[in-house]
Amino acid sequence: MTHSSGGAPSPADFRLDALILAAGRGTRMPSPRPKVLQTLLGETMLGLVYASVASLPEVDRVLTLVGHEADMVRAEAARCARRGPRPAGESRGEALCVEQTEQLGTGHALMCALPALEEGCGHVLVVNGDTPLLPSAALSRFVSGARGADLAFATLCLDDPGAFGRVVRDKAGGVAAIVEARDYDEARHGRDPHEINAGVYLLRVETARRLLPRLTNRNTSGEYYITDLAALAVAEGMSVLGLPVPADSGAWLGVNTPAELAAAEEHLRRRRVAELLSAGVLLHAPESVRVSPFAVVEPGAELCGPCEIYGDSRVAGGALVESHCVLCNAEVGPGARVRSFCHLESAEVGPACQVGPYARLRPGAVMEENSHAGNFVEMKKARLGKGSKANHLTYLGDAEVGPGVNVGAGTITCNYDGKNKHRTVIEAGAFIGSNTALVAPVTVGENALVGAGSVITKDVPREVLAVGRGRQVNLPRRA
Ligand code: UD1
Ligand code: CA
Repeated sequence: MTHSSGGAPSPADFRLDALILAAGRGTRMPSPRPKVLQTLLGETMLGLVYASVASLPEVDRVLTLVGHEADMVRAEAARCARRGPRPAGESRGEALCVEQTEQLGTGHALMCALPALEEGCGHVLVVNGDTPLLPSAALSRFVSGARGADLAFATLCLDDPGAFGRVVRDKAGGVAAIVEARDYDEARHGRDPHEINAGVYLLRVETARRLLPRLTNRNTSGEYYITDLAALAVAEGMSVLGLPVPADSGAWLGVNTPAELAAAEEHLRRRRVAELLSAGVLLHAPESVRVSPFAVVEPGAELCGPCEIYGDSRVAGGALVESHCVLCNAEVGPGARVRSFCHLESAEVGPACQVGPYARLRPGAVMEENSHAGNFVEMKKARLGKGSKANHLTYLGDAEVGPGVNVGAGTITCNYDGKNKHRTVIEAGAFIGSNTALVAPVTVGENALVGAGSVITKDVPREVLAVGRGRQVNLPRRA
């Protein structure tokens, strides 16, 4: 085979697979969760890496190498694949995982993936699963620069190169080797170059096939290192490129410890805040605004820190989210106001709605246009119709509330009988007096009025007044 003579393929036909190394335990992160499932702004490291590589136009398939807690990591990879972006060669929802049953090092990881890679298009972009900040634009530039080499890897220069692998170059500036920090010996390798390996590699599958059998684990860690491929490739006369990446080095740093995770999360938070500001989102106290890279906040929306907007949340232009709110997979429509201290999870707030302060919208809560859910109101699998109001101290669970309804203070839908959940229906224009218990299944008809303090166990027909409580009696006081 002609391993180094091919030259750069034209961009149109340059295809590659991406391989995310996510099998390691992460011994420096003392947590029962595998390291790649640790989160930044609510997103796993794996999810961030996955999205970044899957969005590259050259990428056909994304393979995830799993091992430690394989089932958990596989499940997350499947979620990533369903969520998108979808690589060119994958049908939606499909996560391709390869198992490394024993974690014998990053070189061994590549060996485990080789059979799957041989079914692919000849090139592979290998990315450490603990490098969550890689922006796809920078990755794309790396891929362009690396195209045509037998083996290329991203490098950066650090004042404090710490535990990263060092890039050793020859006098002409070509790559001689990557030497792991623990194995680095100034007497043998020369002065510390401060240039490190970022853990992002582009190689021909053929390079891996030829060189992997020659890796050994004779080093300080007793592991097979992917990084040893560099010196092996040089010895074979292959083209090996160490490509320096731009100085925003934080974006390329691996995360190994809780301190590094916190620093990476802050880096991502700032990057997101800068994007939102330049897109025209209004931010108060931006230093405490936390928005997931997957959440959409439209220009003209207004957020007050501290607030947290996670998952696939969406905040429309003209909406206001006041301080101390947490949104997760929530939608807030145009002109809506979410007042302080609200918690919204998988909930929908329609245009011009008012929520809170201190409201909790749980999964399946839907507020239609111009409806109000005020303080200490909780909704779950419940719909509040257009213009309806539940302004104080209310629980609406498994409920369907029509338009123009007034739900008085302290109203509770009693949806659970100890075994099953039942639905409550309140039709258009009904008025529910304060402190009413609606024992489901039950329906309150259109324009009906329920007297305060009622316990409603039977359906209320439309247009009637229902009172379900002990009658007041006024008796003479005993002496
Ligand atoms: C690795 C590089 C180092 C580089 C650094 C950049 C090696 C030998 N060293 O070091 O040169 O500077 O990344 O961040 O590669 N993994 C597996 N299977 C294994 C071992 C690891 O899938 O058997 C995965 C881990 O889950 C992790 C990634 O590979 O996502 C990197 O492993 P890690 O142990 O963190 O490597 P570093 O010591 O950081
Ligand atoms: Ca690492």
